[in-house]
Amino acid sequence: MNTLTALLGTTHPLIQAPMAGAQGAALAIAVSNAGGLGSLPGAMLTPEALRTELATLSGGTQRPWNVNFFCHTPPVPDAAHEARWREALAPFYAEAGLDMAAVPAGAGRVPFSHAVADVIEPFRPPVVSFHFGLPAPDLLARVKGWGSVVLSSATTVNEARWLAAHGADAVIAQGLEAGGHRGHFLSHDLSAQMGTLALLPQVAASVDVPVIAAGGIANAAGVAAAMALGAAGVQVGTAYLCSVEATTSALHRAALHSEAARHTALTNVFTGRPARGIVNRAMRELGPMSLAAPAFPLATAAMAPLRAHFEAQGCSDFSPLWAGQNTSGCHSLPAADITRQLTQGFVCTL
Ligand SMILES: Cc1cc2nc3c(=O)[nH]c(=O)nc-3n(C[C@H](O)[C@H](O)[C@H](O)COP(=O)(O)O)c2cc1C
Repeated sequence: MNTLTALLGTTHPLIQAPMAGAQGAALAIAVSNAGGLGSLPGAMLTPEALRTELATLSGGTQRPWNVNFFCHTPPVPDAAHEARWREALAPFYAEAGLDMAAVPAGAGRVPFSHAVADVIEPFRPPVVSFHFGLPAPDLLARVKGWGSVVLSSATTVNEARWLAAHGADAVIAQGLEAGGHRGHFLSHDLSAQMGTLALLPQVAASVDVPVIAAGGIANAAGVAAAMALGAAGVQVGTAYLCSVEATTSALHRAALHSEAARHTALTNVFTGRPARGIVNRAMRELGPMSLAAPAFPLATAAMAPLRAHFEAQGCSDFSPLWAGQNTSGCHSLPAADITRQLTQGFVCTL
């Protein structure tokens, strides 16, 4: 046992990263039953879908599990900014024969709230993790009050210190290699962020809570390296994307297995917030970082019809192909097998 397994109640200090849009309860159940901490991403689920997934998850394993939410401040819609974004997308709409006027408004991702807490409270989640900081103190107190262990991601030493001081029971040090959205919340300056190898030991030296390494860990050697650098455990996302239980689309899986996966970048063109994905046409021609993209998550609405149009033709040019820099662990295997391989990295370190 180490500090993280003692905190989480798992056999291994391994967390399967919550991956909104790429998985549901099935992956979390498989990983929890294999001795890691399976995670359910809640950020994109309606209250009804969240309730259903939580019922499946809590009924599918006797082991601890995690449910994850975003903590962003909802943006104030800005008509001029939205108009600039639509202007940037207009040539692609014309090419696809789509009608910009038909774009539905809508956020797509809502932050954690008391209404969401009402849905999850009956399930008493063993662990709740957050991205983009922590919820407001009263809401955090409510989650901790029913006994959930609370985790959140830090992309800098400052953020790690802030999370530890504001109630996180453990901190996820998210290196720049990581797939999906950057978890930053104190500073939006990407130049302040570091790779896992640099971030992890500095965070470990700066906080008293257990530190979980995330970003670029794809096999047992990566796990062992993180533990050698002071991690109490690891959080792995990309290596689970091609697992049998993930809901990753066929187009996304094909990209992960292609040469294109060697080139990922941070982009805001899909949601309005920097996230790492495999470089595709939308990223090349609109960004990868675009000043025209409205604030998170407002960029999503006008991109969605383009994504749907091109995906219907078997093309992922306008799809967010979220992936970390290290896709070498993306095997089409049951998640339990991937978990077993990763946990070999703990053998000498615990
Ligand atoms: C497809 C995908 C979706 C993600 N979605 C979320 C999410 O919903 N919530 C979250 O906290 N982190 C999310 N992440 C980030 C992970 O928590 C984690 O930082 C990252 O996967 C670790 O790096 P790796 O992908 O190199 O293993 C996502 C990552 C990927 C690859």
